[in-house]
Amino acid sequence: MKRTLDAINVLYPTPTVLVGAVVDGKPNYITIAHIGIVNHARPYLISLSSAKAHYTNAGIKENKAFSVNIPSENLVVETDYAGLVSGKKTDKSELFEIFHGQVENAPMIKECPINMECRLYDIYDTPTHDLLIGEIVETYADESVLTEGKIDLAKLKPLLFDMSSIKYWSVGEAVADCWKVGKQLK
Ligand SMILES: Cc1cc2nc3c(=O)[nH]c(=O)nc-3n(C[C@H](O)[C@H](O)[C@H](O)COP(=O)(O)O)c2cc1C
Repeated sequence: MKRTLDAINVLYPTPTVLVGAVVDGKPNYITIAHIGIVNHARPYLISLSSAKAHYTNAGIKENKAFSVNIPSENLVVETDYAGLVSGKKTDKSELFEIFHGQVENAPMIKECPINMECRLYDIYDTPTHDLLIGEIVETYADESVLTEGKIDLAKLKPLLFDMSSIKYWSVGEAVADCWKVGKQLK
């Protein structure tokens, strides 16, 4: 027997990321969990849904650039903090060490093992949120989270966000091989 839950979004877990941008001449970071994959071919496009009132949005719109950084479990406190305080009132620019790639005004976080530098590609306007579409220009990874040159989730230990429990979760075990396990029903 199914019960209705009202028209709520239940697309969790999602990865928790730290988005870096330059706002008023300084780096600022915002925690984002409403992140999506838009185009998985060139141009590689991803989306961030960020409430219009957030300080970071203004910097992304002005400079047309941002970074998406994936924190590991060891950064849970800093990640939560970046999502608790706004750059409008609190300077978050010293929270992380930064590095730059090819894109100006897309400060990337050294402490995060994975980083994507993005150019703003488009914005889809909703009544309350900016859906910021970014084109990935380059992706960086620490050797420590790679196995044979590929990102290894067991090493990366991303923070999975769940709105139902309002908690960060860990990645569990792999279940089966994609595009393979289903073949037994062919
Ligand atoms: C785990 C977590 C996930 C969040 N995800 C989002 C999100 O997807 N979209 C959004 O608009 N705000 C999200 N927030 C809230 C912003 O990160 C928060 O309001 C932040 O302080 C805004 O910073 P800014 O004003 O410096 O840009 C999230 C916060 C947390 C703690």
